[in-house]
Amino acid sequence: MEAEGRREQAREQNQAQQAPEQVRGDILVVEDTPASLQLLSKLLTDAGYRVREAPNGELALWSAQAQAPELVLLDIRMPGIDGYEVCSRLKQMPGLDEVPVIFLSAHSDTDDKLRGFQVGGVDFISKPFHFEEVNARVMAHLKIRRLQQQLAAQNDQLQRESRQRLAEIAHMNRNASASVYCAALVHELNQPLAAIMSNAEAAELFLQMTPPALDDVEEILGDIRRDDRRASELIQRMRELLKKSDPVAQRLDLNEAVAQVIALLGSEARMRRVLLQAEPAPAPLMVSADPVQLQQILINLVLNGMDAMGASPQGIGAADGGCGKPRQVVLRAGLRGDGMAEVLVRDHGCGFGANQARLFESFFTTKAHGMGLGLSIAAAIVQAHGGRIWADNNPDGGATVGFALPSAPAAAGGQP
Ligand SMILES: Nc1ncnc2c1ncn2[C@@H]1O[C@H](COP(=O)(O)OP(=O)(O)OP(=O)(O)O)[C@@H](O)[C@H]1O
Ligand SMILES: [Mg+2]
Repeated sequence: MEAEGRREQAREQNQAQQAPEQVRGDILVVEDTPASLQLLSKLLTDAGYRVREAPNGELALWSAQAQAPELVLLDIRMPGIDGYEVCSRLKQMPGLDEVPVIFLSAHSDTDDKLRGFQVGGVDFISKPFHFEEVNARVMAHLKIRRLQQQLAAQNDQLQRESRQRLAEIAHMNRNASASVYCAALVHELNQPLAAIMSNAEAAELFLQMTPPALDDVEEILGDIRRDDRRASELIQRMRELLKKSDPVAQRLDLNEAVAQVIALLGSEARMRRVLLQAEPAPAPLMVSADPVQLQQILINLVLNGMDAMGASPQGIGAADGGCGKPRQVVLRAGLRGDGMAEVLVRDHGCGFGANQARLFESFFTTKAHGMGLGLSIAAAIVQAHGGRIWADNNPDGGATVGFALPSAPAAAGGQP
């Protein structure tokens, strides 16, 4: 007796230790045959579940309403309201409609099963049952339910965050350059948000499989968390960028800005096998501009030039950019006859073709993964600095996008 007591104690401790890893839950067992009800209830309790018993349909509904179970094991043939009716009533009760119901029945022909699924059951176990099967199905459905709840909670949180971010963006609108930053944010956030959406869709498909691919769903949840973190980091970076609230214009040399961007995009250009070159003006080319925004313009123009050559029929590995000339983007800085300082970004791609009139429209893109914002952001920044921007096809093939800013000689260095 003493040994038995100790064994029981050890078993309980063992279960308590294992509990966090294992899927255990609150189960309502509905069964009219007392012996079956007791047996099932004992086996489930021994397996570590919290079990509530209901000997008929009315009591089952009452018990479920008093406190929602995580799963219902439901006999079909019962006096009074039968299992089908209990299930369809549960499915109409707020808070209980999502609780998984597994039917138990000795009558398990196809019609019975179909009816069970029609009234909202998730699974069907034939009597006499093997407890291992009952346990496996209960665990699987509890896990699915919890994963669904996690997905729903993450979804809620994402929605809350995006509402909050929208409010932040609206607040940003008060300063003149905010529209540029909004667009950049939208641009960058698109990638993680699209990944989250397609992962959530994939998770739904995995959950609908028989048996549900739970390992895949768990992996997907990890990916969703990672993308969410990435989106938050982007917001954080953008916030830091915005801390200074207004763009700060400072006197800077366009030759240097061009050199910085070439350094920044050097590895990208090498990866795309594009020769990225500067043709600086012979003397410093001073303008008054916000350095971050200026960089943003240049980056967008260079990326577009490289994209234009990636799309050439010969592809990225080819020596030819698309117009019979080498794969090359050249940034030429110079002082114009009217005293403005300009940068021309020239590529050897295929030119603008029929798109020339629409290049600066927001969201106009011909690229599978483009947002169509690069040029409109660049144009907004150039205009805010009192300059102008244009785009031409080169007479010898490829395209050139240029912009000009008022130059800021030493004595007259002011704000744009
Ligand atoms: N150098 C270029 N050569 C040929 N077409 C170009 C060039 N630059 C821009 N375009 C055309 O103009 C469109 C709009 O360019 P924009 O930079 O605004 O958006 P995008 O590059 O498509 O997307 P993203 O927002 O990622 O930059 C491009 O999709 C492309 O069709
Ligand atoms: Mg672009």
